[in-house]
Amino acid sequence: MTTYTVGYFVGSLSSRSINRTLSKALIRLAPDDLEFVEIPIKDLPLYSPDYDADFPPAGTALKETIAGVDAVLFVSPEYNRSIPGALKNAIDWASRPWGQNSFDHVPTALIGASIGAIGTAVGQQSLRGVMAFCNARLMTAPEAYIHYTPDVFGDDGSVHNESTETFLRNYMSEFRDHIVRVLTVLPR
Ligand code: FNR
Repeated sequence: MTTYTVGYFVGSLSSRSINRTLSKALIRLAPDDLEFVEIPIKDLPLYSPDYDADFPPAGTALKETIAGVDAVLFVSPEYNRSIPGALKNAIDWASRPWGQNSFDHVPTALIGASIGAIGTAVGQQSLRGVMAFCNARLMTAPEAYIHYTPDVFGDDGSVHNESTETFLRNYMSEFRDHIVRVLTVLPR
């Protein structure tokens, strides 16, 4: 069986992040041929072009991790109708130095959970714009806007609602198909 490695970003630095919980659920429900590695963002300094000539270890590690995966998944909250600054900072790091954009042609999907009813819809539109500019191969459908309630998601990533579980399982299956399609024409 061919397996594909997905590097996932959790866009929240919160120790009680509902998006981290969602990431655990997605990993549990993903097809067997997907493997996962987290791409950490919390130790990155704020990006400056001054670093381009000599990336610090955290920046180099970020780019090496992305280079080693087949695809990227963003699991992120919406902050003030956009994406969290920590996540944007990580994307800026990965996109540089100029000419060495780590996201170029990488199969990519995004999903997010919110305590609000719109489930990160506006934040995801912002993230789509950023990742389109970074030339990621974005999965356009299905979209996934998760309204988080604690009765549905266990801390361990268990999902206690059948329709939510089916939806998330299908989302990850579609992402696997998207990865295969992109890699067929744009091998990493
Ligand atoms: C939020 N929250 C929020 N929710 C939302 O639906 N739309 C928004 O624009 C915002 N904006 C926002 C800004 C900031 C600075 C914070 C701290 C929070 C609420 C957000 O959905 C909630 O805090 C989630 O728990 C965030 O996800 P994590 O960090 O738990 O994964």
